[in-house]
Amino acid sequence: MSIGKIGAYFDERAANWNEMAEPAGAKHLMVAQLAGVHEGSRVLDVGCGTGIMEHAYLELGASSIVALDLSKKMLACARETFADVPTERLRFECRDILDYANDGPFDAIVIYNAYPHILDKEALVRATASLLKPHGRFLVAHGMGRDTLNAHHANVPHDVTSNLLPAREAVLDWQATFEIDMLADTPYLYFFGGVQQ
Ligand SMILES: C[S@@+](CC[C@H](N)C(=O)[O-])C[C@H]1O[C@@H](n2cnc3c(N)ncnc32)[C@H](O)[C@@H]1O
Repeated sequence: MSIGKIGAYFDERAANWNEMAEPAGAKHLMVAQLAGVHEGSRVLDVGCGTGIMEHAYLELGASSIVALDLSKKMLACARETFADVPTERLRFECRDILDYANDGPFDAIVIYNAYPHILDKEALVRATASLLKPHGRFLVAHGMGRDTLNAHHANVPHDVTSNLLPAREAVLDWQATFEIDMLADTPYLYFFGGVQQ
């Protein structure tokens, strides 16, 4: 099944991930701010990989961050990078977001550079809704534009990724459950997000 396959796919890429990944910086801070992260926020980072977003959440003063991923090796890199941060503030867990029901509720749930890999979008919407506080915010975002991302995924197996749809189509899965109040689908940036209805 795909879950094991996705974890294995990213395990194979973990050793070189940080060399290829975007450096932590202004873009990640902007994504975290779009997700409404602020002093004292409880954040769920879905598909955290090696933890590139965690710097931004910590800088904005999040009090509790749970970062999930399917890849044990990506998580091992993340734990090494953030070894100095107490686990009460930042915890990495090898879990599938679609089965993750034992924590929360969260002020913000961020799916950064991971959305195409979560193949069952309806289940993702349900999981996100169940884990957010009333009026909590979710954000799906990518650090590159849709065409660039889809080209980048052209040779990735179909049980590991899916085509990233135009944001106006992608939100159709979310808008019965969330009030969508932000969306961008530009050559350089892709995101949509909203608050629990
Ligand atoms: C392209 S990587 C992005 C990692 C990180 N967010 C970044 O931007 O560098 C996507 C990550 O999502 C994780 N992932 C995919 N499906 C997942 C799921 N259902 N639950 C949790 N993590 C998942 C993968 O294991 C992978 O590490």
